[in-house]
Amino acid sequence: MNEMVTPRPNDLDAFWMPFTANRAFKSHPRMLARAEGMVYYTTDGHEVIDGTAGLWCVNAGHGRREITEAIQKQAAVMDFAPTFQLGHPIAFQAASKVAELTPPGLDRVFFTNSGSESADTALKIALAYHRARGEGTRRLLIGRERGYHGVGFGGISVGGIGGNRKQFGALLPYVDHLPHTHAPAHNAFSHGQPAWGAHLAEALEDLVALHGAETIAAVMVEPLAGSTGVLVPPVGYLERLREICDKHGILLIFDEVITGFGRLGTHFGAERLGVVPDIMTMAKGLTNAAVPMGAVAVRDGIYHAIVDGAPAGIELFHGYTYSGHPLAAAAAIAAIELHQREDLPGRARAIEPYFDAAAHSLKDAPNVIDIRGMGLVAGIELAPRPGKPTDRAVRVFQRCFDAGVLIRTTGDIIALSPPLIIEKPHIDRIFDTLRSAILAEAA
Ligand SMILES: Cc1ncc(COP(=O)(O)O)c(C=O)c1O
Repeated sequence: MNEMVTPRPNDLDAFWMPFTANRAFKSHPRMLARAEGMVYYTTDGHEVIDGTAGLWCVNAGHGRREITEAIQKQAAVMDFAPTFQLGHPIAFQAASKVAELTPPGLDRVFFTNSGSESADTALKIALAYHRARGEGTRRLLIGRERGYHGVGFGGISVGGIGGNRKQFGALLPYVDHLPHTHAPAHNAFSHGQPAWGAHLAEALEDLVALHGAETIAAVMVEPLAGSTGVLVPPVGYLERLREICDKHGILLIFDEVITGFGRLGTHFGAERLGVVPDIMTMAKGLTNAAVPMGAVAVRDGIYHAIVDGAPAGIELFHGYTYSGHPLAAAAAIAAIELHQREDLPGRARAIEPYFDAAAHSLKDAPNVIDIRGMGLVAGIELAPRPGKPTDRAVRVFQRCFDAGVLIRTTGDIIALSPPLIIEKPHIDRIFDTLRSAILAEAA
């Protein structure tokens, strides 16, 4: 009698995969089943070294017992509680824990569920801040070409990756962009911050002259741009953005979704790069990716301007059902404790020279036209195949995967961002495999 369940012809059909070539994937799936430490295991039992910390997020390595147990314990005590007009202690503890790591003064923390939500939250807070201070004319948001701030309408509008924008209509009004800082003629094969390019920050003065400072709310940039294919800020560039923002009363937002939680050998990119923003977004490493969670940390003065300046009642009309979700809060506390106890930023810093040297050892490999990076991030740019952009990198990716190493590609750029617990033999294995794959795709 029970004929209700119709077998599906291909049970990969239902899941419309994000940022994926669905047709290609579903004809040749790559399935992960399990993960531990530096390694994924495929459904057919092969080991794959994680050269990308999942998606730049599993900074402490996979399957960390402390985090798993904290989530399990919290799930048994209280699965969910709202944070609209109610509180639960663990959400407040998680915010205080985040504030232990953020630069001094950036210690008011708003919780979201992702990097995209953090980007949109940061932009909304910037607008609300100016309005609260009687400067509601400041409505313009400035991003940067090649910037990635997730996939919300705010993030794709202020972001500068054409492919992520062109399917989606008119986007937000009142947005402009700085030029990106990638100039291989001047800064190819730099170790860490390139010496050339600080002057590109002057474009912000041009935008101020064009639009008027009184119309500009905020500038949002990634301190080190990851998703576009690893662009390290030139020496002096972020300092100059900071100066120009200060001069004109513009808020500076750092999108630290990738650079946060040890990736650059410090808690946040702000610390490594020596420039403190007014607002900082984060996600990914916050919970070691074990439960989705994002956050936005703001300067005390921004919180006070919005909260103290409002009439009685709700001060900021913004929030998510899952802001400060108990399981995410438990994961964040456990992940930050691990980060502190194991000094993950220190580990990253200690192994950075070996990682950097291994990346730059590919300089003589065929079609490698740039290598760049900082902390435990490396970008290796390949010459595209004539008439077939991305083809070479996609094939290198597949070869590495088949040989047991997970890398990431964007365009013809290979991006590596391994867990911060990586050791020298993993680094050797990743770069040896990558070299063989690049050689095999030399033609
Ligand atoms: C700098 C930056 N901002 C925002 C995001 C978006 O994060 P999510 O995918 O969690 O929405 C990312 C994701 O890679 C990112 O790198």
